[in-house]
Amino acid sequence: MPDLTIAIDGPAGSGKSSVARRVAQMLGYLYLDSGAMYRALALKALHQNIGLEDEPALVELAKQTHIELKPPTTDKERAGAKNCVFLDGLEVTLAIRTEEVAQAASRLATIGAVREVLVAEQQRAGVGGGVVMEGRDIGTVVFPNAELKIFLEAAPEVRAERRWKEHQEKGERIALDEVIVEIRERDLRDRERKVSPLVRAADAVLVDNTAMDIEETARLVVMLAREREKQ
Ligand code: DC
Repeated sequence: MPDLTIAIDGPAGSGKSSVARRVAQMLGYLYLDSGAMYRALALKALHQNIGLEDEPALVELAKQTHIELKPPTTDKERAGAKNCVFLDGLEVTLAIRTEEVAQAASRLATIGAVREVLVAEQQRAGVGGGVVMEGRDIGTVVFPNAELKIFLEAAPEVRAERRWKEHQEKGERIALDEVIVEIRERDLRDRERKVSPLVRAADAVLVDNTAMDIEETARLVVMLAREREKQ
């Protein structure tokens, strides 16, 4: 099979990470979670007490930061991780999976110059194809020429419930109502920001997986990939 570039975009809780990782496994491709890069940078900004409105400082931080994504180790995968994430050489795989970091990531992702730095990294990481990358702007900005673009959607309450279950599995106590508010807030910011907002690329296939599980969604994407391969 020729090495396609597969872009999967969608809002929080749409199942992007699980589907993208499964598709990559089925095709023997590299899986890359672009959101993990925004999260890692957000974690660093929080640790250094850099205000999320301080654009020049955040842009400088992005330029000075080295973020690496690697396939997950067995123990990290068991803990739900799909990539191992390294921030300036230190592993932050699990540390970036908090709601605080998610909100901070969504806020710094509104800054165009920060995005430029991370997008260049993502393009370098995915060069040559044979890659499934997921995020918000992969089909529109990072890989506008991707052979297959998927836009994943699911009903907001289903997305919130999925996120809530993930927290439960990790033993984190958070009310479902709180997760619903959090997801709504982040969705709105991600969809309405001026730079590279979350939108479906004109040539992306819209997949609503409200009533589908990960395996079914992944199989559908793999089927579409095999069709693209023949074109
Ligand atoms: O995919 P995620 O929920 O881990 O992403 C965290 C935040 O990062 C998300 O709310 C918006 C931002 N993000 C982005 O702006 N562009 C991407 N390609 C990926 C993530």
